[in-house]
Amino acid sequence: MMFALAHLSDPHLSPMPRPRLVELMGKRAVGYFNWRSNRGAHHSPDFLSALVADLKHRGFDHLAVTGDLVNLGLPDEYALARRFLESLGPGDRVSMVPGNHDAYVRGTALLHIDLWKDYIAGDEPAQDSGIAGAAFPYLRRRGNLAIIGLSTAIPTAPFLATGRLGKAQLLEFERLLKITKEERRFRVVLIHHPPAGKHSPHEILTDAKAFCAAVAREGAELVLHGHKHKAMLQKIAGPERDVNVIGVPSASNPGTAPERGGAYNIYRIGGEAGAWTCDMESFGIARGGAAIAKIRSAKLL
Ligand SMILES: [Fe+2]
Repeated sequence: MMFALAHLSDPHLSPMPRPRLVELMGKRAVGYFNWRSNRGAHHSPDFLSALVADLKHRGFDHLAVTGDLVNLGLPDEYALARRFLESLGPGDRVSMVPGNHDAYVRGTALLHIDLWKDYIAGDEPAQDSGIAGAAFPYLRRRGNLAIIGLSTAIPTAPFLATGRLGKAQLLEFERLLKITKEERRFRVVLIHHPPAGKHSPHEILTDAKAFCAAVAREGAELVLHGHKHKAMLQKIAGPERDVNVIGVPSASNPGTAPERGGAYNIYRIGGEAGAWTCDMESFGIARGGAAIAKIRSAKLL
């Protein structure tokens, strides 16, 4: 039986609610100016609607959304994002992980955990460790898949877009990789920041090395991320074979393929442990094209 897993990321939803003056302090002031002068032009709500309509028409068994739903962390933005998630599907068919913009400033950094909770809820309720953000990692079993969702979302200073997993989350992540390997599942890891490759210091995952070390010990079948707003395919070492690490562009960027044009991916997963198959198809607008169509495909496993 084939399982169709869809993936989109970084919708940076707009129109942005007009912030009240008192909300435009510190980091938000920089971000708001940035949005008005530049960023907003790269994110189109109409394009996003068209892309989502195309995805829903094509159909999927499960959808992964790898973060950056909001821009400045305004309370109204989280409510808008909640409606966006509901438009994609119910919480048990859509798995979300937050990005750096979803924890933009300290005051609202944990709002996403509350407002989007059915999209980040694991099959079993998270142990109440008392740590803020203890909803992560979560584990969801769907078909032959184990979907592991991680949070790299931490509030940072202006001009910074870094992420961090932290020791507690990394330990639990490795344990989940191990038990789901023993269950012979196809393990899909969702993470906003790319855990592989070289990136400029202001936007890195600070503990990417520890993430890669966990995967090197326990393996994984697929790692999906966002953050860079472009199509990417990288590899990290696993115990037996390399692990595919895949990024999608921002789902609201109305540009064209191949670089940054908005797109979503569908991974078709079949076979069984030791003999998995996984094919990827990307849908967006080809250069010179006018409608959303298949822009690339790859055999991953
Ligand atoms: Fe990001």
